Amino acid sequence: MTRTRAWRTAGAAALLLLMAAGIAPARAEEGATPAYSPHGADTCLVCHNEPGLMGLFRTAHARPNDPRGPFGHGGLQCEACHGPGGAHVKARGKQPAGIVDFGAHALAAVAKQNGMCLGCHRDNAAHDWDASAHAANGVACASCHTLHAATDPVRSADTQVAVCTTCHQTEQTDLLKLSHHPLREGKMECTACHAPHGSTAPAQLLHNTVNETCTACHAEFRGPFLWEHQPVTEDCDNCHQPHGSAQPTLLKVRTPFLCQQCHEGAGHPSIANTPQGLAGVPGGVPSAFLLNGGCINCHSQVHGSNHPSGRALMR
Ligand code: HEC
Ligand code: HEC
Ligand code: HEC
Ligand code: HEC
Ligand code: HEC
Ligand code: HEC
Ligand code: HEC
Ligand code: HEC
Ligand code: HEC
Ligand code: HEC
Repeated sequence: MTRTRAWRTAGAAALLLLMAAGIAPARAEEGATPAYSPHGADTCLVCHNEPGLMGLFRTAHARPNDPRGPFGHGGLQCEACHGPGGAHVKARGKQPAGIVDFGAHALAAVAKQNGMCLGCHRDNAAHDWDASAHAANGVACASCHTLHAATDPVRSADTQVAVCTTCHQTEQTDLLKLSHHPLREGKMECTACHAPHGSTAPAQLLHNTVNETCTACHAEFRGPFLWEHQPVTEDCDNCHQPHGSAQPTLLKVRTPFLCQQCHEGAGHPSIANTPQGLAGVPGGVPSAFLLNGGCINCHSQVHGSNHPSGRALMR
């Protein structure tokens, strides 16, 4: 009641002060002697019988005969994740009173939240976690995982993209472009290329390099080829934008301009031979072959060639 009145009458500045004051004592209590609730989940569920929480009992965490899990014999049940709840129960939930809550807007610090999970998951899921960009930027396990649900959205193909793109809006925008991997169609996940918990590769890729990641699916471009095209062996991303592009086939730039970033136009077909012309290279030679496909009308084996006379990547 008093709390309600205070919230209503306080100005913005006073409100912030109140919030700070509310957080401080809760945090301070975290150092106090742990006191668990007397009857575990039975105590908690007296008050927390919200339907939205019950999905937990249909997940791996609620298995009664898994000694490693929260609900195994002797397990701390709810408090294995939420921490000692004795003080919280005694206060009849009025203050979070030391209870660990989860997510980006929780009172508990992210390090504290993740610590609860890592106590059990140090060895498997979180192998590369500590060195990951997510850990370094204070992303909580619970910002991706939903545990009180029968199905965790981040772990299923048709809902994962929505979870990741709540934070990754650049990628969300890219996915909407003309050419894209079938992620928004629910046929592919971010984790087809990325390791969510971190990896030793750049950009948390699943495999050691960009090329190994791409050729895991696009094996026909893995090589080695008799005639290699150097930018291809180096990095598929020299020409492709993995998340989506306004150009066809995920190209960063349209041909012939893509090719002309590296190859001179002089002495070679390099300007489309159309009445209205096309911005080309100064001193370039007009050619009908540069319409549409541009250079690849002739140099069709742009990823490399195995033909004995494929040096110029034309067959
Ligand atoms: C006497 C009733 C009562 C009992 C017993 C109780 N709680 Fe609570 N709990 C509350 C109330 C009231 C709140 C505040 C809810 C709110 O602010 O919406 C709360 C808040 C919480 C929150 C934070 C929710 C949020 O919105 O951030 C968690 C987590 C929680 N309780 C877990 C537990 C656990 C675990 C137990 C058992 C150890 C437990 N509670 C026992 C009443 C209770
Ligand atoms: C008391 C130990 C314990 C704690 C604490 C714990 N887990 Fe688990 N977790 C387990 C066990 C055991 C499994 C089942 C593993 C298996 O089947 O191989 C599991 C499974 C999972 C799974 C896979 C679920 C599935 O259906 O296969 C996820 C995701 C997960 N935990 C995330 C978390 C997160 C996030 C936290 C912190 C909020 C957490 N866990 C806290 C023990 C724990
Ligand atoms: C960026 C989102 C994200 C974050 C943050 C995250 N996870 Fe996961 N986690 C996933 C996804 C996605 C999967 C499904 C496995 C996959 O596709 O590679 C998963 C799977 C798991 C599993 C099941 C076992 C496995 O490896 O498949 C466990 C356990 C788990 N996570 C625990 C954790 C813990 C503990 C943390 C925090 C230290 C955490 N996760 C942080 C996205 C995340
Ligand atoms: C394996 C770890 C784990 C266990 C066990 C667990 N929780 Fe949670 N709890 C979480 C996480 C993570 C969240 C954040 C929301 C989510 O993931 O669904 C959460 C959210 C909550 C909330 C806040 C709900 C909200 O909407 O913000 C309450 C209350 C709660 N849990 C109570 C309980 C009770 C009661 C139990 C025992 C029956 C329990 N939890 C067991 C991890 C756990
Ligand atoms: C709660 C917000 C949040 C969610 C949800 C989230 N991320 Fe992130 N992610 C970040 C932040 C913050 C960074 C570090 C800053 C940056 O690179 O944007 C990051 C970085 C990354 C990076 C770059 C890693 C590097 O080493 O450069 C990748 C890849 C990534 N996230 C993939 C994912 C995937 C896949 C998912 C879903 C399974 C996901 N993220 C979910 C916040 C999030
Ligand atoms: C087809 C493979 C693939 C898929 C699917 C994919 N990515 Fe990536 N992602 C990459 C590659 C490759 C890079 C590295 C780009 C580079 O360095 O040129 C990358 C880089 C990133 C980065 C770092 C960007 C930066 O500027 O440092 C983030 C964040 C990211 N991806 C998030 C996501 C999210 C979120 C999803 C799902 C919506 C996703 N990715 C799906 C391949 C993929
Ligand atoms: C998990 C498998 C997988 C991985 C990994 C993968 N791709 Fe794909 N790729 C696909 C699928 C599936 C399609 C869509 C094929 C279709 O629509 O017919 C596709 C399509 C493409 C296309 C054609 C797009 C279009 O609009 O026609 C290009 C270019 C491409 N991928 C490049 C890459 C690059 C570069 C990488 C590495 C960053 C990569 N792929 C990683 C599965 C994958
Ligand atoms: C030098 C620029 C360049 C590099 C580097 C490159 N590509 Fe391409 N890629 C292209 C062009 C141009 C096209 C369009 C070809 C066409 O339309 O006939 C294409 C098309 C594709 C396609 C879709 C068409 C098809 O034939 O299936 C895939 C998949 C693809 N590339 C994968 C890759 C992979 C994997 C790598 C890295 C091993 C890579 N590319 C590196 C220029 C490049
Ligand atoms: C990122 C720079 C880059 C891009 C973009 C690029 N190339 Fe190349 N290309 C190279 C390099 C480097 C070589 C090797 C040159 C050498 O060995 O002297 C090469 C070699 C070639 C060769 C064989 C020449 C020879 O003598 O071996 C052809 C043909 C070729 N590129 C065509 C293309 C076409 C067509 C495109 C556009 C689809 C393209 N390149 C895009 C850098 C690039
Ligand atoms: C009309 C067909 C045609 C078109 C269009 C074309 N080329 Fe060529 N290109 C050739 C021929 C023929 C050669 C010589 C092959 C040989 O020496 O065996 C060649 C050679 C090359 C070489 C190797 C040069 C060298 O010194 O050996 C490069 C690089 C190249 N082309 C790039 C391009 C680029 C970039 C474009 C687009 C702007 C392009 N080509 C458009 C036919 C074409």
